Amino acid sequence: MGRVYTLANQKGGVGKTTTAINLGASLVGLGQRVLIVDIDPQANATSSLGVDKHAVRGGAYEVLLGQAAASAQVLYNPRLNISILPSSPALAGAEVELVNEIGRELKLRQAIAPLVERYDYILVDCPPSLGLLTVNGLMAARDGVLIPVQCEYLALEGLGELTRTLQRVRQAIFPTLKVRGVILTMFDSRTHLSGDVVTEVRKYFNEQVFQTIIPRSIRLAEAPSYGLPVTAYAPASSAAHAYEALAREVLAGDGVAVMESIV
Ligand SMILES: Nc1ncnc2c1ncn2[C@@H]1O[C@H](COP(=O)(O)OP(=O)(O)O)[C@@H](O)[C@H]1O
Ligand SMILES: [Mg+2]
Repeated sequence: MGRVYTLANQKGGVGKTTTAINLGASLVGLGQRVLIVDIDPQANATSSLGVDKHAVRGGAYEVLLGQAAASAQVLYNPRLNISILPSSPALAGAEVELVNEIGRELKLRQAIAPLVERYDYILVDCPPSLGLLTVNGLMAARDGVLIPVQCEYLALEGLGELTRTLQRVRQAIFPTLKVRGVILTMFDSRTHLSGDVVTEVRKYFNEQVFQTIIPRSIRLAEAPSYGLPVTAYAPASSAAHAYEALAREVLAGDGVAVMESIV
């Protein structure tokens, strides 16, 4: 049975999409079958894997509205050996269109349930808000939430609100929802601030913070415009190594052994 993790943080630009793509690609590199589920109407994960979001004819929108089966909308990228359930700008309408639906928070969880057997990891990339799409993402997070936190001033701002949202979801309907881990992103070793943020976030979240820290890297910002994860765009970069280390940490925490190649 595959694991489902959801990347959530209502702050934009903290590295949700970058982490979904690059953690996903690194897990593929370590032998895992990976599906990215893009539920952000901005469709950045979709474009980061080289899919034209304006050309998406069926994707997360159709799936959430029950117009299509998730399995029929998944796109497979043979070069990267990764799959994506794409988003499109139409998804922006879903928040409104789902409002009167019964079980509207459970649409994604139900839609991807048949896919859980086919992948080792499903990573859900949420929009930068705590609206119905993100709640669908949280409800789908059977194995926990991954929270990227940018190593910047006011890093902890908004995390109280996110924690309260997780608590509300637990109380209302999903008592076992857990935080799988906090991922420190965009670390800049040249600044004291980054170091201070690491200390502060570790104090707040304790052992929930992954050991691996993702450095600030221009390669990570460039890779999406080539439709590639950094592991394919700049495999020797510090960013590629960091995401591989994160993938190893996730696998180790999940008790998944990796067979090392000897060549
Ligand atoms: N570690 C990093 N170093 C440099 N740029 C990064 C890094 N992580 C993300 N970025 C860039 O920062 C921007 C926001 O990241 P993104 O992953 O899209 O955030 P979110 O999905 O949380 O809104 C993007 O342009 C991305 O390429
Ligand atoms: Mg994003």
